[in-house]
Amino acid sequence: MSYKAKFKVWRGDAGKGELADYDVEVNEGEVVLDIIHRLQATQAPDMAVRWNCKAGKCGSCSAEINGRPSLMCMTRMSTFTEEETVTVTPLRTFPVIRDLVTDVSFNYTKAREVMAFEPPEGLKPGEYRMQQVDVERSQEFRKCIECFLCQNTCHAVRDHEDNKEHFAGPRYLMRVAELDMHPLDSRERRNDAQEEHGLGFCNITKCCTEVCPEHIKITDNALIPMKERVVDRKYDPLVWLGSKIARR
Ligand code: SF4
Ligand code: F3S
Ligand code: FES
Repeated sequence: MSYKAKFKVWRGDAGKGELADYDVEVNEGEVVLDIIHRLQATQAPDMAVRWNCKAGKCGSCSAEINGRPSLMCMTRMSTFTEEETVTVTPLRTFPVIRDLVTDVSFNYTKAREVMAFEPPEGLKPGEYRMQQVDVERSQEFRKCIECFLCQNTCHAVRDHEDNKEHFAGPRYLMRVAELDMHPLDSRERRNDAQEEHGLGFCNITKCCTEVCPEHIKITDNALIPMKERVVDRKYDPLVWLGSKIARR
């Protein structure tokens, strides 16, 4: 069964743009990305869109669909009624390059700022040993497909451009938390989480968790436990005394 849907797609570049109207065929079982591809094939050959796997695994096709940050390839047209207008706009937090494609390099910068895993001195690859329970604790975070939907949604950067410099965003605070939980990582992460990656900007609104297509419990399992460990460190009298002595 096919029908004609009304689509509004944001067309433009870094300078200016507007929503363009389209009437487009929809067939049973299709997703929003299929419709964007049909528009490219029939009415708008120059429409820019980033995608790769069409299976919810590469994290490329992130956009805002009727205002909700989503993967275009995982949003079924059956979510909408046949009368509903479907509006597709680029991620709002990142600068537009053209049409639905944004410049997500903010995220690559933040990724580089997280120091790499550092095993204890003298331990070579192949000699690492850890408990299964420690492996499982961070397994959830490794499901991240780097779609940046959480980064786009968190109000700490979405509504405050000037916070971008000081706040790594949920995806990279989750990475810091994962490394801090790693029993073989020998770097000090807690101070950096607060001072370098802006953990304090997160006020636990959980919007990041709500949009994560991998259903990672970013807030409950990574950010809140990380906040608790940072606070423990700050208020532990022995740690406080140790840091005072070390500074002398
Ligand atoms: Fe996307 Fe989830 Fe990874 Fe954030 S944590 S980048 S929403 S997969
Ligand atoms: Fe932002 Fe997620 Fe914290 S949306 S405020 S990082 S809980
Ligand atoms: Fe890969 Fe959508 S095209 S996640």
